[in-house]
Amino acid sequence: MKPDLLIIGEITPRMADRFASTFTCHYLDEINDREQFLAATGPSVQAIATTGHDGVPDDLFDRLPAVKIISNYGVGYDAINVDKAVSKNMLVTHTPDVLNEEVATTALMLLIAVSRELIVNDLYIRKGNWSKKGNTPLSRSVDGMSVGILGYGRIGQAIARKLEAFNCQISYHARSERPDSKHLYFDDLTLMADHVTALIVITPGGPSTYHLVNADVITALGPEGVLVNVARGSVVDEDALIAALQDKRLGAAALDVFATEPHVPEVLFSMDNVILTPHIGSATIETRRAMGDLTVDNLVQYFSDGQVITPIPECCHLIG
Ligand code: NAP
Ligand code: 8YV
Repeated sequence: MKPDLLIIGEITPRMADRFASTFTCHYLDEINDREQFLAATGPSVQAIATTGHDGVPDDLFDRLPAVKIISNYGVGYDAINVDKAVSKNMLVTHTPDVLNEEVATTALMLLIAVSRELIVNDLYIRKGNWSKKGNTPLSRSVDGMSVGILGYGRIGQAIARKLEAFNCQISYHARSERPDSKHLYFDDLTLMADHVTALIVITPGGPSTYHLVNADVITALGPEGVLVNVARGSVVDEDALIAALQDKRLGAAALDVFATEPHVPEVLFSMDNVILTPHIGSATIETRRAMGDLTVDNLVQYFSDGQVITPIPECCHLIG
């Protein structure tokens, strides 16, 4: 008998095919009578696959008593109540490393695009303004720019490495210093924001990073400053960011993530100095394939020998 797997959120056709060969799959989005499903099938569900966006709704933990493992399609797992999962001996896995380069490239793409005013310049031509009004104003160079990275983990360090190709002066802030790093460590985020031109945010989400980028940090970045957020919307105080952009206390922002996705504050839509992308940090065919394979492989291996490839740190003690 194949184990019952509950799939939450959108997965790729390749993941669906691979899951189907090992599991009896139940798609939460396709279940019309959730109560009936939870009563009839809930007790036999042994595994959950979910996405970084969807997590696991809290009420499901108590209704799925046989779940042993939750496989998260994404590295960030702030949408999962980890304390609850661990208290129920549910192992949680995620997809670190395979997306480092892609997300780092997205961060650089956003930094370059907003600094060189790519979208504004593109629209200028499309609106027929070049021939009518002449050249657009000069923009800002990323070459040699002073850039601070908030969150200097797997992806943060990949961003730093890519910024080196642009001869950027690189600083970073995290709770702990990396003594082996050649980049400049700040133990105070506001001081770093004051020191740099651009701040790239790439920490996990969740309570420990909530509104780390507050009004003081944004003001310290200043009217020439650029904020790039590829972490989670919760890390930046969105109201303070909007106020600073409106008052010209912040120069520009490029945002891939938002406080309440997919809602994006409409006031941002008309700002020329803002670039908005719909959480596409890892969203390429190649990277999502690697993430999808790892999401599936963690589950398949667990049901084969009880081991997993990439458990979240909080769950390592649960592996036999
Ligand atoms: P990671 O390797 O765990 O690195 C996290 C970094 O954040 C570490 O340097 C950590 O250092 C720092 N950090 C954690 N809490 C902090 C705090 N309270 N204050 C300051 N620094 C803190 O994680 P990763 O693999 O690089 O991924 C980072 C995050 O990127 C994910 O969790 C996810 O939210 C986001 N992400 C977004 C996309 C997207 O599509 N936009 C894609 C992938 C990932 P210390 O522990 O020393 O503080
Ligand atoms: C994905 C992400 O958008 O890995 C993460 O933490 O935010 C992104 O790679 C998402 O998790 C896909 O479900």
